[in-house]
Amino acid sequence: MRIVVSAGPTREFVDPVRFLSNRSSGKMGYAVAQAAVEAGHETVLVSGPVSIPAPRGLAAFVPVVSARDMLAALRKAVKGADALVMAAAVADFRPARACRRKIHKGEMPGAIALKPNPDILAALSRGKGRRVFVGFAAETERAEAGAAAKLRRKKLDLIVANDVTRPGAGFEVDTNIATFVRPDGSTETLPLMSKAELARKIVAQVEALAGV
Ligand code: PMT
Repeated sequence: MRIVVSAGPTREFVDPVRFLSNRSSGKMGYAVAQAAVEAGHETVLVSGPVSIPAPRGLAAFVPVVSARDMLAALRKAVKGADALVMAAAVADFRPARACRRKIHKGEMPGAIALKPNPDILAALSRGKGRRVFVGFAAETERAEAGAAAKLRRKKLDLIVANDVTRPGAGFEVDTNIATFVRPDGSTETLPLMSKAELARKIVAQVEALAGV
């Protein structure tokens, strides 16, 4: 299969030296890409800025910065792909205006006006066809309910819910605690495990959904 994986945060610049972003280290998405390579799939990794090395054996590595860059890169990458696993933590908002020069301390605005970024999965799933789309849901309360709503809205085949407030789960750590939520409403709650192990389970789900 040709599998596209997204990972890491996006950065949304306020001026050339400052940005809005989030805590994603890229570990979860890189583990999925590594598991896909190890399972023998042609794997493309589209990544926001992170400080970990890309897995060996990728068919392509596409570095991106902003949510809009990530959408453009993924639009190209999913053409001809069989599956997309979207582990990236995409910034939902960006500054309404990015200043082209550094904003000096004395002229700092009291507030930064924001505007919404595109919802990448929702945009791509409009032309999804028979491809398998897997999302993640980073939740801080009622993880399964939130994930189920995202799965429906983004027309996904599977969503991996993680409560990012639980110790050992979510951002930056090497482990995760996840629940698979499916379109028929069924759920499968997994115990704490390494991101590498969870990644192998996600790749197995992708293979099963694609009928491989
Ligand atoms: O990178 P790590 O430090 O290892 O952390 C892992 C993780 C916490 C980032 C990962 O496990 C995770 O939960 N990734 C999804 C983060 C996220 O953006 O969740 P969300 O619930 O806001 O978004 C739901 C889904 O829509 C995600 O698949 C996301 O990639 C996608 N999305 C979100 C916003 C947006 N504008 N476009 C999108 O496509």
